[in-house]
Amino acid sequence: MHTVLTHPLVKHRVTLMRDINTKPKQFRELVNEITEFLAFESLRDLKTVEVSVTTPIARTTGVKIADSIVIVPILRAGMGMLDAMLQVLPDAKVGVLGMQRNEETAESVPYYIKVPRARGDELAIVIDPMLATGGSACDAFDQLKKLGYRRIVFLNLIAAPEGIARVEKEHPDVPVFTAAKDDGLNSHFYIVPGLGDAGDRIFGTL
Ligand code: PRP
Ligand code: URA
Repeated sequence: MHTVLTHPLVKHRVTLMRDINTKPKQFRELVNEITEFLAFESLRDLKTVEVSVTTPIARTTGVKIADSIVIVPILRAGMGMLDAMLQVLPDAKVGVLGMQRNEETAESVPYYIKVPRARGDELAIVIDPMLATGGSACDAFDQLKKLGYRRIVFLNLIAAPEGIARVEKEHPDVPVFTAAKDDGLNSHFYIVPGLGDAGDRIFGTL
């Protein structure tokens, strides 16, 4: 299952983010803002618990988040989405997955795994700006499932149809939320029109 955000506030920001003239500072700000919209849309069904609260006027009932959450950025570009996720989920844990894509074959190689083992029914929220061939994302979900995670959701800024199709085939239980579904991949496995190399644009290493 995949969901593409269609709100004009998101589309406006995606357009600015794609622009070759957008510098890293503004690029990072846009990544943050779009990530908050993705979190908002994707986490509607978080488990909550009823609590009582006393306002200056009266006693009433409200809700608090009851889910235990682990945010998992895929290094390195996924780090660009982490601040926004912690902004909306300040009590979440963070696990880190290092995946390096071989630029010739697009195969992903895990090089660093620092994710707590699942103890119960924690929700793992995987964040990575780009879903191209889907290799990195599918490897990340494989690693998380080996660590015991049964509830995984993937938040992403730009997705190629090829990557979405691979995730839906290999991990039909992982919903994908993206801010844009693009046309496809070029011969170097880059997303078209995309935004170039997300890591380079976030970290200024062009
Ligand atoms: C990028 C991106 C994804 C991956 C997507 O990372 O952040 O992790 O490519 O491509 P795929 O769907 O074909 O696997 P990259 O390996 O370039 O590393 P970086 O984040 O360190 O720049
Ligand atoms: N990784 C990126 O950063 N950009 C792409 O277009 C594909 C993979």
